[in-house]
Amino acid sequence: MKSQYSPPTYDWEQLMKMNRLKAGELIGKTEKEITPAPFIVNPFSPHINSSSIRFVCTSDTHKGLNTVPRGIPSGDVFIHAGDISQQSFVQEIDLFCDIVTHLNFTAKFLVKGNHDIAIHDQGYLELVGKQFGHNPIPSVNEELRKVKECITILDNEVVTFSGIRILGITDPDYRLDAVTYGPPFDSSTSNFGQVDILVSHVPPMGILDLDHRGVHAGQLALLYKVRTEWKPKVHIFGHMHSNYGTFFDGQTLFINASASMGLDNPKNPVIAFDYPIPSGI
Ligand SMILES: [Fe+2]
Repeated sequence: MKSQYSPPTYDWEQLMKMNRLKAGELIGKTEKEITPAPFIVNPFSPHINSSSIRFVCTSDTHKGLNTVPRGIPSGDVFIHAGDISQQSFVQEIDLFCDIVTHLNFTAKFLVKGNHDIAIHDQGYLELVGKQFGHNPIPSVNEELRKVKECITILDNEVVTFSGIRILGITDPDYRLDAVTYGPPFDSSTSNFGQVDILVSHVPPMGILDLDHRGVHAGQLALLYKVRTEWKPKVHIFGHMHSNYGTFFDGQTLFINASASMGLDNPKNPVIAFDYPIPSGI
């Protein structure tokens, strides 16, 4: 069957030529040439600009949301880009919910990470749960119910907050041991048009997506969507723990908000930005 996905020719050619790419090479610039990033603020600074919304972002906290360095400051919108647990044990989910419930935000959004198998699909959880130490196997419906009580899961959907369009997408490859490249996004993620903020668990290919070996492991299909359709002003993700940071390509501010460096407790603080409220709101 012919794939609906057509790779962006330039990116694809570059990828084929080089196994190892530095962030920015896919857009023909070095990181030094691409500064400064817009919107970024000190997360612990007071939010005094009433014409903007303060977003506070983290990702890949695994079982350590309560040990993120310097903690989680308050803001308007809290974003977690997935991997709220290590192996999705019920106790890990409960701890996450307990902490998030007490965070001081107007809205809280989550996209599911590949470690969050207890809130993805019961069939997959039944298949691999015992292998990863689940006994008994949790109920996905029950774990989802708990998580949804404390945070809004964006599962291939757009929400609007103060006129700002926020798209959260679920990676089609949510295996616990998933790396990326992954299958292309299907039609359920193709009709959103342009958005202000994009949240995914995995990075786009070539941008803040280096794994611990220094190999790019982001998703080419996601990069294609970012460039050709969603064109976000800010793209928040995680998954690649080794590539925490921000990167601005002149159109999109990319944020790898991975709190964890490896599989230890979080080492990286939250990243925050003030996004201007659209005029007329
Ligand atoms: Fe992770």
